[in-house]
Amino acid sequence: MSLVNKLNEFLANQQVFYVKLHNLHWYVVGPSFFTLHAKFEELYDESAAIVDDVAERILALGGSPVASVKKASEIATIKELCDEKISGDDSVKTLIEDVKFFNNLSKEIRSLAGEEGDGVTEDQFNNYVGAYEKLLWMLEAYLCK
Ligand SMILES: [Fe+2]
Repeated sequence: MSLVNKLNEFLANQQVFYVKLHNLHWYVVGPSFFTLHAKFEELYDESAAIVDDVAERILALGGSPVASVKKASEIATIKELCDEKISGDDSVKTLIEDVKFFNNLSKEIRSLAGEEGDGVTEDQFNNYVGAYEKLLWMLEAYLCK
């Protein structure tokens, strides 16, 4: 698969993730509500920045970024949530699965970019890997793992 196609796969999933983080922000319940509600807002703001940065990298490479909800839903593989209350622990568990997915995909894109001599994309996704690994540590610490 070409680098641009992989970047669009990442972008489409990130667009769905942005919505999913809002779902968690709105529907999380329990004693950790205030902590998680605020954390999910921080994460959807970060996700919005990632969406824009990845789309603009695709454009810089001469590609066409996914720019519709319909197309993003067709490509994305991360699971969306129902519109119903979710506990703090369950919300962090589903988040861990998604962050692992983005971390693995970021590593794949980093390698692909490296093979193609595209140091800029390689650096961009190397930064994402660092950020996702840090976030995974924090989410797992939240679950006392
Ligand atoms: Fe809000």
